[in-house]
Amino acid sequence: MNQEVWNKIDSLIDRDQAKTLKERFAEDPSRAGRYSIEAAGWFLDYSKNRIDDEMMSALIELAEKSNLKAEIEKMFTGEKINATEGRAVLHTALRNCDPAAKVFVDGKDVMPDVREVLARMGEFSDKVRSGEWKGYTGKSIKYVVNIGIGGSDLGPVMANIALTPYSKRDMKFFFVSNVDSTHLAETLLSVEAEETLFIVASKTFTTQETMSNAGAAREWLVGKLGSEAAVARHFVAVSTAAREVADFGIDTANMFGFWDWVGGRYSLPSAIGLSLMLSIGKENYAKLLSGYYAMDCHFRNAPFEKNMPVVMALLGILYANGYGAESYCILPYDQYLSRFPAYCQQMDMESNGKSVDKDGKQVTYTTGPIEWGEPGTNGQHSFYQLIHQGTHLIPCDFIGFSRTHNPIGDLHDKLMANLFAQTEALAFGKTAEECRAEGVSEELVPFKTFEGNRPTNTLLADELTPETLGALVALYEHKVFTQGVIWNVYSFDQWGVQLGKVLAKGVLSDLVAAVPSGKHDSSTNQLIARYRKAVGR
Ligand code: F6P
Repeated sequence: MNQEVWNKIDSLIDRDQAKTLKERFAEDPSRAGRYSIEAAGWFLDYSKNRIDDEMMSALIELAEKSNLKAEIEKMFTGEKINATEGRAVLHTALRNCDPAAKVFVDGKDVMPDVREVLARMGEFSDKVRSGEWKGYTGKSIKYVVNIGIGGSDLGPVMANIALTPYSKRDMKFFFVSNVDSTHLAETLLSVEAEETLFIVASKTFTTQETMSNAGAAREWLVGKLGSEAAVARHFVAVSTAAREVADFGIDTANMFGFWDWVGGRYSLPSAIGLSLMLSIGKENYAKLLSGYYAMDCHFRNAPFEKNMPVVMALLGILYANGYGAESYCILPYDQYLSRFPAYCQQMDMESNGKSVDKDGKQVTYTTGPIEWGEPGTNGQHSFYQLIHQGTHLIPCDFIGFSRTHNPIGDLHDKLMANLFAQTEALAFGKTAEECRAEGVSEELVPFKTFEGNRPTNTLLADELTPETLGALVALYEHKVFTQGVIWNVYSFDQWGVQLGKVLAKGVLSDLVAAVPSGKHDSSTNQLIARYRKAVGR
């Protein structure tokens, strides 16, 4: 990070250490309007943050000194910014809705391939949704089981739940990710083989969990339908690895491809979104992509001070690096966004959970935050206590919609009243004097006092639609990108997950070997021995 600008930010933090949000609002009645941005169907109110104009311009300077503008252009134009894997980073090409757009990687325009796969997905999904695609015994498809993990699961799951109101309700969608056999077993209890389509979703087609589950599902299907020939009617693949798909026994005619320049956690708008398209149809899927595209254009073109992802990224950096906030909370006030925090966890923590900079040197500052969250209002009755009165500073994003898909009495008014009230309570708290004025007895005053001054962003859209969902995902993607640029880390590799994968192979061979190697540490050897004894080996 640029030290000179950071020193300026630090001195502003020191200068305003004692200034509360309450004082900031009292001093400046136009604050809410000034610290708000509208883009791609979303309204961001970031006025309940510890900022003023001076702080915002210092933060913007931080972005400028990090060459953010140039880095954004590098991403959008296909430069190989994922340097440790030698790859371009072009999830934005997947949702580029400009019919004349050309995006080059190694001198080749990738857009014709993007459009071709999208068209094939559309044709396939029309056939399945209309009942024209028949299973091996001649029945139409009623159940879709997506088998994938990480980016090949979290995006499809999150979006399938989020867009339930747009889904084909007479079809049922399941997502199997865990190598825990319970996940597959319970799913298979809920489907009929003759009417089930399995989508094996894996960028690499080598991931242990996915390939094990896919193999077991295939065995189950062949066992139920009595022929290997059934596989062609009940299995499709979504992958970048044609050879591995063919080796698994899936006809590559039933494969929907994508490319190494799509990171797993950014792959929802690629063919990885096939299960979603089957659920909501190609027209709604196109609307999702148009929402992504609207936010992409905003991110690429808006000046930093009016740029929603950039501003959110800078605020996150202010708290992580300036105030020592260890975590960050995402709180959607919409049951349909119940998996959005989990989706953001992978996107953010796998991207910026890095401790060396682009030169391979240990960083001397905090990078990616621990990200977590749950839908409101449920969280209010569990962990919000700590956010309000605990010792940790936890910046929160509150996300809500003015209209609900399911109006029942005044429930939606109550939901939104809670969202707005939480941001008010966190910002302004309740003083000891206010407690006393309410008649709180002196010995209870310390317990009933709320310090306030806790920062929040509020994100509002009119309604949860394919468009607003796409824009929301793109907003967080670009926020994470911006932070990675400022922290000077490589946001698009994930070497940190490799070691566990390799060690698991060694442990597995010791769990099943006639004689275990005993090559591990004494704790791991002991655990292996205990497991073997319990299962009779
Ligand atoms: O283990 C991490 C990871 O590589 C993620 O980045 C990825 O989303 C997930 O595994 C699944 O990978 P694949 O789609 O290749 O099966």
